[in-house]
Amino acid sequence: MSEETVTSRRKVLGWTGAGVVVAATAAGGAVAAVRSGDDVQPAGAAGAAVAFHGANQAGITTPVQDRLHFASFDVKTEDREELVALLKEWTDAARKMTQGRPVGEGAVGGLAEAPPDDTGEALGLPSSRLTLTIGFGPSLFTTKDGGDRFGLKAHRPEALVDLPKFPGDALDPNRSGGDLCIQACADDPQVAVHAIRNLARIGFGKVAMRWSQLGFGKTSSTTPEEQTPRNLMGFKDGTHNVAGSDRAAQDKHVWVSAKDGPSWMAGGSYLVARRIRMHIETWDRTPLREQEEIFGRTKGEGAPIGRQREHDAPDFKAMLPDAHVRLAHPDNSGVTILRRGYSFTDGTDGLGRLDAGLFFIAYQRDVRDGFVPLQMRLAKLDSLNEYIQHVGSAVYAVPPGVRDEDDWWGRELFQNH
Ligand code: HEM
Repeated sequence: MSEETVTSRRKVLGWTGAGVVVAATAAGGAVAAVRSGDDVQPAGAAGAAVAFHGANQAGITTPVQDRLHFASFDVKTEDREELVALLKEWTDAARKMTQGRPVGEGAVGGLAEAPPDDTGEALGLPSSRLTLTIGFGPSLFTTKDGGDRFGLKAHRPEALVDLPKFPGDALDPNRSGGDLCIQACADDPQVAVHAIRNLARIGFGKVAMRWSQLGFGKTSSTTPEEQTPRNLMGFKDGTHNVAGSDRAAQDKHVWVSAKDGPSWMAGGSYLVARRIRMHIETWDRTPLREQEEIFGRTKGEGAPIGRQREHDAPDFKAMLPDAHVRLAHPDNSGVTILRRGYSFTDGTDGLGRLDAGLFFIAYQRDVRDGFVPLQMRLAKLDSLNEYIQHVGSAVYAVPPGVRDEDDWWGRELFQNH
């Protein structure tokens, strides 16, 4: 992008310096202003930019985008200052990319003798509602033998527990864990992949990608007023979820409050990611009635069994005792989490079966009364278990949002401790 173009866009949008395009809303994640070419478009239009700055990180209660690239990294440097410098550099790059701008001098704006700052494949593409959300895994705080790698051991949140082994887990260590994660969500897969690739490039030598996952279709929504997406089992998924507009429910179930402790996590959340493989071929040979009984909802409308419409209140007595929705519903489980998962299909498994399923992502205020008890209940009782297997797992503390131009990911943790 030429300086002239940048300047004219700044004029149109009222940018200041390298500044923010939009004002963050109170929730910190809502879609706000937007650019596409040189025109300001209404929020929510294709290519709209999501505010990067705010009290909470974007990508949690933000209306769910269509595509995902989720990456987990191991930190290779042993130097805390080098890690802090990387977090600052990452923040700067994320700030730019989420607003549809290239990293550094861009793909073609730098010295011809040096590799470009930006890898270039998002040149000319709008921001596509890209959000980048960072999380810190348990292993960032302590090593396996209890060591204190970065002086953070005393600041590990109690809520950042190592997940217990759940019945039926078949976890692949190469698809699990990690010191840091970045969740990239966008409406264009190229934009999401570009973002992760550029962050990995910036981190070269300091971090190494441990595993990553592409997701091609959202399986949950945080916008109940919109059509509910379907998962690969063909069912509407996300009918009953924490809505992006429901601040009261978010404060109760998603955001860590100042009282919860530790103070650096106030405004943050906890992320659980599970790669859940579906036995698609077996599912496809299962009769419709049985499929509906397994979930406790109809396949077409998505209505609770015994009811007519998708958003009708469930009649639990009409469902089988081991129906997924009956077990998972907050009235019966006592648990509320925000689900934000994606479908994946990673080719075949060498045995002629699709390696496909749900990359489950959940956000909650405390894992100990969120995912852990709920998954324990589902792993023991859910009739869906015959058709799925959890093969990857990770948990992260997601720090609060980046407040302004001078702020950076993890500042509350690293600067004060
Ligand atoms: C491949 C695995 C899974 C599939 C295919 C699946 C599918 C579904 C479907 C179709 C619904 C009904 C629509 C809705 O209300 O959103 C649902 C609801 C739900 N699921 Fe899952 N799910 C899976 C795994 C999980 C896991 C691992 C958890 C949590 C540990 C979970 C928690 C929930 C919750 C909380 C609800 C909402 C229940 C309600 O309030 O009515 N699901 N799921």
